[in-house]
Amino acid sequence: MSKVWERLAILATLLATPLVIVALALGYRWWVEHVEEGPRFIPRRFSMPTQDPVEQILRTWHAPAPEFVLAFSGQMYGYLQPCGCARPQVGGLERRYELIQRLRQAGWPVLGFDLGDLGRLRQEIKQGIPALPEQSRLKYEIAWKMLHQLQWQVVGVGPEELLFPLEEVMALALNNKPPVLVSTNLDWPEMLEAGAYLQYFMFELSSNPSEQPSAAVGVSEKSASLKTKDGPRLTARRSWRIVCLSVIQESELAKLRADLPHQAELWKRFRPADAALASAWHSLSRSHPDCVILLHHGTSEEARALASRFDWLHVILSRDPTDVASSLAETLPPPSRPALPQTVSFENRLLVRVGHKGKALGLVAVRPDHAPPFPSPGKATQYRLDYRMVELTERFELPSDKTNPVRELMKEYVYQVYERNFLKEWVSHRQVSHPLQSEQPGATFAGVQACSECHRQACQVWSNSKHSQAYAALIKYGQPQTAIQREGRTVIIGRQYDPECLICHTTGFEYKTGFRNAQETPQLLGNGCENCHGPAGLHVQFPKEPKYWQPLKRTAAAITNTCRACHDPENDPHFDFAKYWPQIAHKKDPTP
Ligand code: HEC
Ligand code: HEC
Ligand code: HEC
Ligand code: HEC
Repeated sequence: MSKVWERLAILATLLATPLVIVALALGYRWWVEHVEEGPRFIPRRFSMPTQDPVEQILRTWHAPAPEFVLAFSGQMYGYLQPCGCARPQVGGLERRYELIQRLRQAGWPVLGFDLGDLGRLRQEIKQGIPALPEQSRLKYEIAWKMLHQLQWQVVGVGPEELLFPLEEVMALALNNKPPVLVSTNLDWPEMLEAGAYLQYFMFELSSNPSEQPSAAVGVSEKSASLKTKDGPRLTARRSWRIVCLSVIQESELAKLRADLPHQAELWKRFRPADAALASAWHSLSRSHPDCVILLHHGTSEEARALASRFDWLHVILSRDPTDVASSLAETLPPPSRPALPQTVSFENRLLVRVGHKGKALGLVAVRPDHAPPFPSPGKATQYRLDYRMVELTERFELPSDKTNPVRELMKEYVYQVYERNFLKEWVSHRQVSHPLQSEQPGATFAGVQACSECHRQACQVWSNSKHSQAYAALIKYGQPQTAIQREGRTVIIGRQYDPECLICHTTGFEYKTGFRNAQETPQLLGNGCENCHGPAGLHVQFPKEPKYWQPLKRTAAAITNTCRACHDPENDPHFDFAKYWPQIAHKKDPTP
């Protein structure tokens, strides 16, 4: 008898343990939530609220404050602004503008450098589907103008700049300074003569605030002057001569050569990176630059090799093989003692990378190694480089009722996409045969209304799902909204004329007889049945014919890749088939 009780007791304990754990966990959560929330229980919060990154930067780089800050970007690939498909998304130049503006308003001179690859000519807008080259070009141009608004100093010549082609980028650079285009190992005398690019960029950061209060960044005769519109203090405690060089290494050039063999003339213009740097230094060193930056297109091994050969390089911004919203800085071996007496010396050197698509910005502060007052004149002042990556999160988002010069340019972009009618360009040249259309040439996209009579349940589910709202979302939520003139009236539009958005927000956009525009094909607005099932026109005509409906059959098990073509990591990082499918799952109607 007692044995039985004993067993029951053990069993009860075993059963009760998980319940107790769950109860404890729930209790703990309740406690944490309520305690954290409530001044009712404890008059202060346990967890510190996440800090404003700018506040944080201003605080950490406080005493001593930076003499100036170098801001690094690169490999933006035309990502001017997050698409807004999912939240949160990082990146965008509007936000970068807000960040830089705040740092400048705090009195820090911020100098911007872009590694290159502002745009990407062969951009994919969806798995395996390239963008219209004209649209990529427009994005490049807008990106450049945005950097102009940000008063970025330099854009390096990267592989994408060479593809665009280079002459085009040079023309843009010539007419929109700053930034200036820099390539140290490119020898193109006529273009150099014309001022279309520089082999190095040198400028002086003045120490005299009274000199030119609104244009305190003096620029060497080698480039146009930098104007600061809002007049933040752009002076340092001492004068600085800052130099920026840029090279494409042999490893990158070899890839390009294989890619574009017909550009032989261009490839001949490139010298080996180390030889070019050596000869640039030969003429540069006479002007005793204080801080030297290298924009580097190559591997990090190549960057390190250059760093150890040229110990006068202080910061190298190198290519990032990863597409992440992060960046990092590695320390390079410290510079050897200079042979000549110098007024400035650096304690450390950095190799920086900033990821792709403008998601993050790398900041390097040049700060004296000790707080002022400085050591006696004649002795070199020690400086150090402090690195910090800033992710461009929604914290920097400009409120929707506000604007900044970058947002204005983004509106200009949306307007140009409409005005130049890229949508028409797309539907007249890009729509190809759907695999089913190759088999059954008459198969056309019919639209959801054509199915409703027979597949009521499926159509009901669809109408209640967000897929039916996908086109409307571009009008309503697509950012930024901009004004266009149509038939003598001013109309506000969103992103509904942009093929790069329509491709996932309408039906059959990639294929013949698919979406053309809202007037001609109103039945193909939104992500309709046929994006998953294929063009069903023949089936609508001959509903009983198995050879027309069988190819339309799909299974939940095999559809994931179709979902992921739109719900890709860029546009929907949270996609989870198990959670998403039940929201749109539909059944066959019961046969009458
Ligand atoms: C590769 C496919 C794809 C492309 C290209 C795409 N989107 Fe999306 N978009 C999606 C998906 C998938 C969602 C739904 C994401 C979710 O629910 O988390 C979405 C959602 C949205 C939403 C949110 C709608 C709502 O109801 O809140 C907006 C706004 C949007 N997209 C705008 C755009 C704009 C603007 C562009 C072009 C710059 C664009 N999309 C390009 C796939 C795409
Ligand atoms: C006139 C009625 C009718 C119309 C209109 C119609 N269907 Fe069908 N559909 C059928 C019949 C009948 C079948 C065949 C067998 C069945 O009941 O599954 C079928 C089968 C299908 C199947 C395969 C179902 C399975 O068993 O997996 C799909 C998918 C489908 N239709 C999609 C569509 C789409 C999309 C449209 C609109 C573009 C459409 N149908 C329009 C009557 C219709
Ligand atoms: C996002 C993709 C997607 C969209 C959009 C979609 N379907 Fe389907 N549909 C599927 C998948 C996947 C299945 C297979 C479901 C399964 O295996 O349970 C399916 C199944 C069906 C079936 C057969 C159901 C059964 O029980 O055999 C019909 C009929 C159908 N869909 C019609 C439609 C119609 C009509 C629309 C538009 C109103 C539509 N579907 C929109 C993916 C989609
Ligand atoms: C042609 C592109 C495309 C395909 C294919 C596609 N979707 Fe979507 N999906 C979208 C867009 C665009 C939205 C956002 C529409 C909006 O919010 O206005 C969306 C929204 C959704 C939503 C609503 C999400 C939310 O945040 O509320 C679910 C759920 C969903 N899709 C599931 C699926 C599943 C499951 C599949 C595959 C069976 C699939 N989708 C295939 C483009 C697509």
